[in-house]
Amino acid sequence: LIEAKVDSLLSIMTLEEKIGQMNQYNGFWDLTGPSPKEGAAAEKYEHLRKGWVGSMLNVTGVKNVMKVQKVAVEESRLGIPLIIGFDVIHGYKTMSPIPLAESASWDVEAIKKSAQIAAKEAAASGINWTFAPMVDISRDARWGRVMEGAGEDPFLGSKIAIARVEGFQGDDLSSDSTIAACAKHFAGYGFSESGRDYNTVDVGTSTLHNIIFPPFIAATNAGVRTYMNSFNELNGIPATGNKMLQRDILKKDWQFDGFIVSDWGSIMEMSAHGYAKDGKSAAELAINAGSDMDMESHLYVAHLASLVEEGKVDEQLIHDAAKRILRVKYELGLFDDPYRYCDEQREKEVVGSLSNKEAVLDIAKKSIVLLKNENNLLPLKKEGQNITLIGALASDKNSPLGSWRIGADDDTAISVLEGMQKYEGNIVTYEKGAEVSIGATLFPKEVKINTTDKSEFPAAINAAKEADVVVMVLGEVGFQSGEGRSRTELGLPGVQQELLEAVYEVNKNIVLVLTNGRPLVITWADKHIPAIVEAWQLGSQSGHAIAQVLYGDYNPSGKLPMSFPRNVGQIPIYYNYKNTGRPVLPEEDVVFWSHYSDQENTPLYPFGYGLSYTKFEYQNIQIQEVSISVKHPNIKVSVDITNSGDYEGKEVVQLYIRDLFASITRPVRELKGFEMISLKPGETKTVDFVLDKTTLGFYDNNGTWIIEPGEFEVYVGGSSRAVLMSNFKLK
Ligand code: IFM
Repeated sequence: LIEAKVDSLLSIMTLEEKIGQMNQYNGFWDLTGPSPKEGAAAEKYEHLRKGWVGSMLNVTGVKNVMKVQKVAVEESRLGIPLIIGFDVIHGYKTMSPIPLAESASWDVEAIKKSAQIAAKEAAASGINWTFAPMVDISRDARWGRVMEGAGEDPFLGSKIAIARVEGFQGDDLSSDSTIAACAKHFAGYGFSESGRDYNTVDVGTSTLHNIIFPPFIAATNAGVRTYMNSFNELNGIPATGNKMLQRDILKKDWQFDGFIVSDWGSIMEMSAHGYAKDGKSAAELAINAGSDMDMESHLYVAHLASLVEEGKVDEQLIHDAAKRILRVKYELGLFDDPYRYCDEQREKEVVGSLSNKEAVLDIAKKSIVLLKNENNLLPLKKEGQNITLIGALASDKNSPLGSWRIGADDDTAISVLEGMQKYEGNIVTYEKGAEVSIGATLFPKEVKINTTDKSEFPAAINAAKEADVVVMVLGEVGFQSGEGRSRTELGLPGVQQELLEAVYEVNKNIVLVLTNGRPLVITWADKHIPAIVEAWQLGSQSGHAIAQVLYGDYNPSGKLPMSFPRNVGQIPIYYNYKNTGRPVLPEEDVVFWSHYSDQENTPLYPFGYGLSYTKFEYQNIQIQEVSISVKHPNIKVSVDITNSGDYEGKEVVQLYIRDLFASITRPVRELKGFEMISLKPGETKTVDFVLDKTTLGFYDNNGTWIIEPGEFEVYVGGSSRAVLMSNFKLK
């Protein structure tokens, strides 16, 4: 039915009107990228009236959306509604944890719920479409945007991609509580050289097919309605002008029938890349390669019509792009009622509601990872303790909101200080100790903004002397990770490391709470500090979540979605590396094997790692070879897990395989299954996994999924370093 409606509308549209659908303008202020034109508002309104605009981004709130939608619907010839896009990355106004943090929960239901809440709030504010989820796999913590993804692993990343797409889009895209999702950035953006944002990407076919593509495939199969291409070039061709990616793989092989939006100005940027000689040829290259919508380059609207006239662009491509965009608009129900998402009363009730806050508190707790807990320093006693809380981030109500929180109000997160003050049985003395960074904002005036001021050290040190326990909240402010926030050093920014060491001199009983948007290098802390909690940037309810974990009202269950390096020189570092020809120290040689002479190969904390206040023991791994044929493999793996500690707790049981010999070398481990279980003290549960044709193969260099006969090892445990092992052979 929708196809017929789209076709009938297309049949009465002029070429200019079809091109108009392919044009996306920013609102009248610059929220998420540099606008190429000064004072563009009048021109944009004019284009709306002419039917030359199909979409706007960064227009939020029912009032503002109504304003532009009314012009499109009531003043243009065909009255085609706009699709309103926005970066609803981890919440709209009620903020969930940053996506990397949520991924540490490994709880796909909770992640889905978080996306549902974000969609509900955004949809109530007039928004139809989010530029999320970002499904870029990355192995490089220097890249600031790792905060926005699901980490380093394609299997976990795929499950999370599905959860987020389903959460945003729901079962019914036309409902007033769901929005269209967008799988981004296609493709390779997470592999930018040296972790510098927007940098060149050069990756081999095997990495492309086996590491980068799987979450995109998962999102496509989950029905994601849009894609965004990326700023980077991939193997010499900018993604925006990359036909192989967009037309051959995405639209043809994967049969994606939604539309692809460019990234902000990325059509224009093909010129700086040295690929398009000017704006007009950039437009030509982008449409021919399959980019359907131009975000803020203003080049489609300027040049596509003449490119068609000159025979450089086939009109059919314009028709196809407009058709894809209109299809999604119909699915969203915008043609039935362009103001469906514009109800001010609903906006008031839904945005920032109490139930949304409660729900994001749940995912915030689940996102926390306990990295170290010597002598059971945690959980803290609830009474009679003298606690000194130190760190500018401990009272910070802004940083927990992360850097992608353009819909949120500043300073609205619960701080750690506020969270801890809820527990009234202890005396909590607060000292800042030192600022982390001054002037870190969305658009900072300077990049190097870490403070060097140590004048508040003495007060913090004195307060620490008297304490039973010192809780230090250190890490990055919200705007130190995210887009354009690449770093070459990953230690604690500013003077925080010095502060930590100075406090340690007077009191060793320290709980270090890290709040950050990426893996940090905390090798000194791991050696000296007895308890370390990774609390990321946890959104609106951050302080309550952290306090509940510190006091043991929530037993931490998170597991790292990215490896934490020992130093920056180890990057890129990831658990699913290849063995190399020289993996181990030869007997009579200390030099010629694959290693560093000044550092171990292993990360400080591996992928999948995270402790609990209780202990889990793994035993009795069993393999049942239901079928060992490569055509229909079916291998059942079961394992017993016992809670041998004193607390009830949750554990993410992880299964890894190693395909020992293959026509393309395979990683030493690959995650192929995980399940979260809850166990009471003394309780044992059996967890079953099935390995089949969806998990026992890999993509060859043509992108074909193949399964080969041979020997496999299976590891089950609580991290990628699992030791419990068994094996089987496929024939
Ligand atoms: O969605 C984002 C993208 O990820 C980076 N550039 C700007 C876009 C729109 O805000």
